[in-house]
Amino acid sequence: MILHHFGNEGTIYEGDAIEVLRGFEDETADMIFADPPYYLQLGNELRRPDESRVSSVSDEWDHFSSFGDYDSFTLAWLGECRRVLKPEGTIWVIGTYHNIFRIGRCLQDLGFWILNDVIWLKSNPMPNFRGRRFTNAHETLIWAKKSKDSGYTFNYWDMKSLNDDLQMRSDWLLPVCSGSERIRDGGKRAHSTQKPAALLHRVILSSTKPGDIVLDPFLGSGTTAVVAQSLGRKWIGIERDASYVRLSARRINDLSSRRMSSETAPSLSPHPSRRDAGRVSFGNLVESGFLLPGQFVFSRSGDKKAMVNADGSVSVNGSRGSIHKLSAEMLGRERANGWDYWFFYEGDELVSIDVLRSRYRELTARHDNIRGR
Ligand SMILES: C[S@@+](CC[C@H](N)C(=O)[O-])C[C@H]1O[C@@H](n2cnc3c(N)ncnc32)[C@H](O)[C@@H]1O
Repeated sequence: MILHHFGNEGTIYEGDAIEVLRGFEDETADMIFADPPYYLQLGNELRRPDESRVSSVSDEWDHFSSFGDYDSFTLAWLGECRRVLKPEGTIWVIGTYHNIFRIGRCLQDLGFWILNDVIWLKSNPMPNFRGRRFTNAHETLIWAKKSKDSGYTFNYWDMKSLNDDLQMRSDWLLPVCSGSERIRDGGKRAHSTQKPAALLHRVILSSTKPGDIVLDPFLGSGTTAVVAQSLGRKWIGIERDASYVRLSARRINDLSSRRMSSETAPSLSPHPSRRDAGRVSFGNLVESGFLLPGQFVFSRSGDKKAMVNADGSVSVNGSRGSIHKLSAEMLGRERANGWDYWFFYEGDELVSIDVLRSRYRELTARHDNIRGR
């Protein structure tokens, strides 16, 4: 096993998940996010009607000999996760119809208590090329606490704030990882199952506090580590493939150089007191990385500034609220439209945040076109 340290923020253990977990002390992690092998059982490579090859998960790491083999593997790593989870910790496991039902059963058999199943509804799913089944347009996340009677963290108000002041539901419409977010090496996808940062943003922001330790036993391209670090959480990742470890390290180091402000702490703290398909909320821009927590937005003349918070609110001198509320405060009015008021620096130029809303829509529209093909 090889260890890779990233300051005090996080560590990657290069090795087998079960073996590495066995070496951890009891009650180490505040939250676990796991994106385990799916056991997709893809016999032949997937081809489009024009015979072009579809890039999918055919990696060696997804191969098991039988359902029994997969279940033994699942019980072993989940059992270790339960042991290393703090008493008030929670676990998130993401999967598809191939594996998520088996994982749900294992979770319950091990004593975990399921809090929610969350549907990640893909705004741009891969089409069903042969037209023999419904387009598979979602993945399922199971969120569970350690036992029936244990406590847990749920940042209700952060989620509500992120959702334009509407209670966050259990169906999350988010695009799959594509465009500039998708990491490529020589034109090819660097990792076949890179998850979107926006998904991890919601998971981590909802169920951890700043400074908490987030553990990902199947780190892959490092999405969990990158988002945890950008949200001021500590993290531990386990990954056995050295090339993926190098990829994660590159992403984490890139993130460190992208940080905008050293005064980010308030932007990461939970909301002190207490957004539908076509709409783009300010929170969508933050969770998708168009704006980072701790970054500043400015009035048109640049003389007023507000800090962006992880929950999609903004802060000015101790006052915290939506982009609309804070722009009204700046203007001394009862109401104002924050989309008209706030700007961000792109290079040396102040650009309206409304431009980012258009960019986000463009991204989603491109995905919709892909779906129609
Ligand atoms: C579904 S991918 C995770 C993708 C990740 N969430 C991301 O955003 O990039 C699963 C990862 O687990 C790794 N893996 C599979 N079996 C493993 C094991 N026994 N121990 C450690 N890593 C393993 C694979 O190499 C793969 O990178």
